[in-house]
Amino acid sequence: MNVLYIGDIMGDRGIDSVAQVLPNLKKEEKIDLVIAQAENVSSGKGISLSDYIKLKQLGVDFFTGGNWSLEKETIYPSLSNPEEPIIRPANYPKGTPGLGYKTIKLNNKVILVISLLGQIVGRDSHKKIDNPLEIIDNILDQYKGQDTITIVNFHGDYSSEKKVIGYYLDGRASLVVGDHWHISTADAMVLPKGTAHITDVGMCGSLDSSLGVKLSVIINRWKNNTPSMNVLEDSGRMQFNAVIATIDETTNLALNIKQIQKIFS
Ligand SMILES: [Fe+2]
Repeated sequence: MNVLYIGDIMGDRGIDSVAQVLPNLKKEEKIDLVIAQAENVSSGKGISLSDYIKLKQLGVDFFTGGNWSLEKETIYPSLSNPEEPIIRPANYPKGTPGLGYKTIKLNNKVILVISLLGQIVGRDSHKKIDNPLEIIDNILDQYKGQDTITIVNFHGDYSSEKKVIGYYLDGRASLVVGDHWHISTADAMVLPKGTAHITDVGMCGSLDSSLGVKLSVIINRWKNNTPSMNVLEDSGRMQFNAVIATIDETTNLALNIKQIQKIFS
């Protein structure tokens, strides 16, 4: 099975980037399942119900979450519905709206998708979250012995956390993808026990920007030390970043992982 995981879709230009690249990529690479990081889709913070529907129509089959997953309330019913293919991080405390892992079926194969938040991430660094290693162990225990492809998304800041989670899950997950940086790392590989991993998959949207935000806004804030609102870049070159993992449906482990990095105007 060929699984495409698309990095953080950042604002309207992120959606445009997916619209321009995804249809041909799906055909060229014989993609069976498309998963995308959705926490930055609507104006850079969260995902609205209408953008969720739009991306589904563009060919995204499942949506992972991060520190902005709960920003738009119109998505809450979908996050809570086990039949809707969208999750928020699984290690938010009990009582947080939505679900942190769900399964989908493809050709009679069960695919379990889980999102986790790192210990330090963006503005959530002060917010209490559950330990991601404890949480993932509990979730995987529930599916132990079952014939399941397991895809884990780790949304975090520390490179050490994002690297270590791959080895922690090596042999237990099919694919472990780090995201949140919006900058892709050059370390996509299949780990010794068969888990495909990348520290960070990168983003989709404006290329000539600070992670999707206008450079002028960030430089002014940095230089003059004055608070200001983020404004998303809406011109210049575009980028699309993703990985494709080929998963053996007999062992549920990875045969290969490759990075997709496209720059276009
Ligand atoms: Fe994030």
